[in-house]
Amino acid sequence: RVREVRGWEALDSRGRPTVACRVLLDGGAVGLATVPSGASAGSHEAVELRDGGARYGGRGVRTAVSHVEGVLAAAVAGVDVAAVDDALPSVASPPYASVGANAVLAVSVAAARAAAADAGVSLARHLTGAGPLLLPMPMVNVVSGGAHAGSAIDIQDVLVVPHAAGSFAEAIEWASAVRAATARLALDGGHDAAALVADEGGLGLRLPTNRAALELVVDGIEAAGLTGRVGLALDLAATEFFADGAYQLRREGRHLTAAELVDEVASWCVDYPVLSVEDPLAEDDWAGWAAVTARLPGVQLVGDDLFVTDLSRLSRGVSAGVANAVLVKPNQNGLVSGAAAVVAAARSAGYRTIVSARSGETEDAWVADLAVGWRAGQIKVGSTHRSERTAKWNRLLEFEALEDTTFAGPWEDVT
Ligand code: PGA
Ligand code: ZN
Repeated sequence: RVREVRGWEALDSRGRPTVACRVLLDGGAVGLATVPSGASAGSHEAVELRDGGARYGGRGVRTAVSHVEGVLAAAVAGVDVAAVDDALPSVASPPYASVGANAVLAVSVAAARAAAADAGVSLARHLTGAGPLLLPMPMVNVVSGGAHAGSAIDIQDVLVVPHAAGSFAEAIEWASAVRAATARLALDGGHDAAALVADEGGLGLRLPTNRAALELVVDGIEAAGLTGRVGLALDLAATEFFADGAYQLRREGRHLTAAELVDEVASWCVDYPVLSVEDPLAEDDWAGWAAVTARLPGVQLVGDDLFVTDLSRLSRGVSAGVANAVLVKPNQNGLVSGAAAVVAAARSAGYRTIVSARSGETEDAWVADLAVGWRAGQIKVGSTHRSERTAKWNRLLEFEALEDTTFAGPWEDVT
């Protein structure tokens, strides 16, 4: 049972405040958690509570912390740790605007960790039960744009999927080789900005077109000798460049309709080995999403801002035949159990699941444990650079070294 809940303000990887929490159980077990924060957040996400005012440019989280130690602590005091997620919504319901989803998720994750500690196992093992741990296929950022790299290009991520790797360690090694080869090509091509490291550790390169970013990473794959073994994944984060009724590719000076953007993405999928496309259309463009789903049946189409790790938005998508995969970000939902329910619903609808970090992260790696614990199959936490990213990869490498594991690759039904 929960004996004490403490909260405090910590820093995330963008130097902004975030909520940290410790849950202490009667038996002495403790669970700690810090929560992440998005930059290209969808408008249907659970709501982060920020203080406003002068501290940290208005981004302080002291009010959220006061709710952790106040109303939320009171709601879970003496509660069986397994029932914490059932007790939290008694204080506020989604999207948790009054107490802050950052406060709610901090307590939820810390409680999950405390439960695992009480059982004497990792959070991953606690969630998955007996048997080999399933390590996810990583989706690794190489070139960044959009809100994560000062709009150097319009689309947010060009990532790689090392689909032919035989182990998680080999997948990371290949992704690292591609990033290094791509950086070398960018330097050779005269990009002095090649050293710029974007929010998720990718290369923030000011390229003339979005297509040029795909081309560069494909060249990086070839230079690394990995053609045919590593494919591309894209996150357009199209909500960010949808304005005044058009998709505005500002770097290219083009304003596209949804149909024209679908044509553009489809041409990329013909010309390059694109395995997965996330948020090709804006968060409320259900018609555009239906069109892209019909147009690209062989591509993994991932809803991030579209589904926001929310059961009702996912079931609308499933009914409408929109997308075929869901990005799972626990802080979009607010509760560990809520995000787990989205994974379960996706699975029963035949949708793939990719557990994801945020662009503002901490060195805390609980999201890696959740990806393994839920047997999600895929994970996306940024590039191979910056410690808030490597903390997650390193957690998975640790599992592969020390535990009985299987690797969720190759990605046979896509390639
Ligand atoms: P965010 O970006 O954390 O800034 O929302 C991540 C993503 O769009 O996948
Ligand atoms: Zn996204």
